[in-house]
Amino acid sequence: MTILVTGAAGFIGANFVYYMLKQYPDADIVGLDALTYAGNLDNFSAMTAEQKRRFHFVKGDINNRDEVDWVFSEYDVRAVFNFAAESHVDRSIYDPQVFLRTNILGTQTLLDVCKGHWKTAVNAWRAGRKFVQISTDEVYGSLGPEGLFTEETHLDPHSPYSASKAAADLIVGAYHDTFGMPVIITRCSNNYGPYHFPEKLIPLMINNALNHKELPVYGDGRQIRDWIYVKDHCRAVDMVFEQGRPGAVYNVGGNNEHENISIVKLIIDTLRDLTGDEEINPDLIRHVQDRPGHDRRYGIDATRIREETGWEPETTFEDGIKSTIRWYLDNREWTEKIVSGEYMEFYEKNYAGR
Ligand code: NAD
Ligand code: TYD
Repeated sequence: MTILVTGAAGFIGANFVYYMLKQYPDADIVGLDALTYAGNLDNFSAMTAEQKRRFHFVKGDINNRDEVDWVFSEYDVRAVFNFAAESHVDRSIYDPQVFLRTNILGTQTLLDVCKGHWKTAVNAWRAGRKFVQISTDEVYGSLGPEGLFTEETHLDPHSPYSASKAAADLIVGAYHDTFGMPVIITRCSNNYGPYHFPEKLIPLMINNALNHKELPVYGDGRQIRDWIYVKDHCRAVDMVFEQGRPGAVYNVGGNNEHENISIVKLIIDTLRDLTGDEEINPDLIRHVQDRPGHDRRYGIDATRIREETGWEPETTFEDGIKSTIRWYLDNREWTEKIVSGEYMEFYEKNYAGR
C-alpha cells in the first residue's frame, strides 16, 4: 500500500508519518510538502534506515496541479491524508490570502487530481481508496462556558484560518456528494507534542522561558482550548481511515480543557523543576493586546469516533506535557535552527538535485 501524506514536513504531518511507518510495516509513504516556513526536513532525522527506505519525500505544492499529478503518476496512491495547510491563526490575520489559496484551492486541486487518477471514484471506496481531510474544531467558532461542539454544530468560523478550513470541509463534502469521492473529514482540537513549530502557544512559551524572554499572553489569558497529545490525534486519523464511514465527519478531542494562562504557568513550573533555573518564573508573563476575533472557548464532543471506532485519547495532559517539555529540552538544537533560519537550508544541502 502506498499512502500520500501532504504537509508531511509540518508538525502533525511528521508525527503522522512516524506513526504510519510503525503501524503499517509493509506500506510506503510519500510525503508531499511545499516546505513553506512551517516545513522542516529536520523532522525526519529520527527515522531508522528501514523507515527511510519506505519514505519518499517530494517537494511539491498542493496548489500546483502538475506537481500533484506527477505524484499520482509515479505512485499508486491508495490513501491521501491532507495535512498540508497554512495553520497559524495570527498569520492569517496579517496575510489571509495564502490561507485561502492553500487551504481551499490547494485542497480542491488535490481532490481533483485524485479524482482523475481514481477514475472509478464511486467504486474507489470498495477498492480501499480513501481521502482523509484533516480539519479543525475551529470551524465551529467559539463556545460559551457550557456545551461542546458536535459534528452537527453549525459552522461559524471567525478567523481567516478557520474560515478557510471550513470552506475546505465544504468542498471536500461536495466532492463526496457530487462525484462519489471516498472522503472522510476529521475535526480535531489543539495538538501538542514534539516538532511543534515555535510560533504556537506551547512551544513558543517553552522556548521563550528557556531563553528568559517575555511570555506574551493574549488578553486576560482565560481563553480555553481542548488539548490533545499529537500521537492520540494520529491514531484517531488512522482509526477513521480504517473504520470510518464514507462522507462522514469525526470530531477528535482530548477531553482536556485548560485556560491559556494555566498552561503557561504549568510550563514555567515544569521547566523550573527540570532545569533548576530560578529565572524561569511567573515574572516573565506579559499580558499583551488580545488577538482580534479571539475565540473564547473550544470544547469537543468526541462520542461519534468513540462509538464507531473505539478510539479514545490515551495520553493524560500531565504525562503529555511533561514528555513534550522534556523533548524540547533534549532537542534544543531543533528549535535553535528554526529561530536562526538554518533549518531552511536543510533541503538544499541534503535533498536538492536527487
Ligand atoms: P504546520 O503549519 O506545522 O504544517 C503544515 C505543513 O504544510 C508544513 O510542512 C508546510 O510546509 C506544508 N504546506 C503548507 N502549504 C503547502 C502547500 N501549498 N503545499 C504543500 N505543503 C504545504 O501545521 P500542523 O499544525 O501540522 O497542522 C496540520 C494540519 O492539521 C492542518 O491542516 C491544520 O489545519 C490541521 N490541524 C492542526 C491542529 C493543531 O493544533 N496544530 C489542530 C487541528 C487541525
Ligand atoms: P495557538 O497555539 O496559536 O493555537 P490556536 O489559535 O489555533 O488555538 O494559540 C493557542 C491559544 O493561545 C490561543 O487562545 C491564543 C493564545 N496565545 C497566546 O496567548 N500567546 C501567544 O503568543 C500565542 C501564540 C497564542
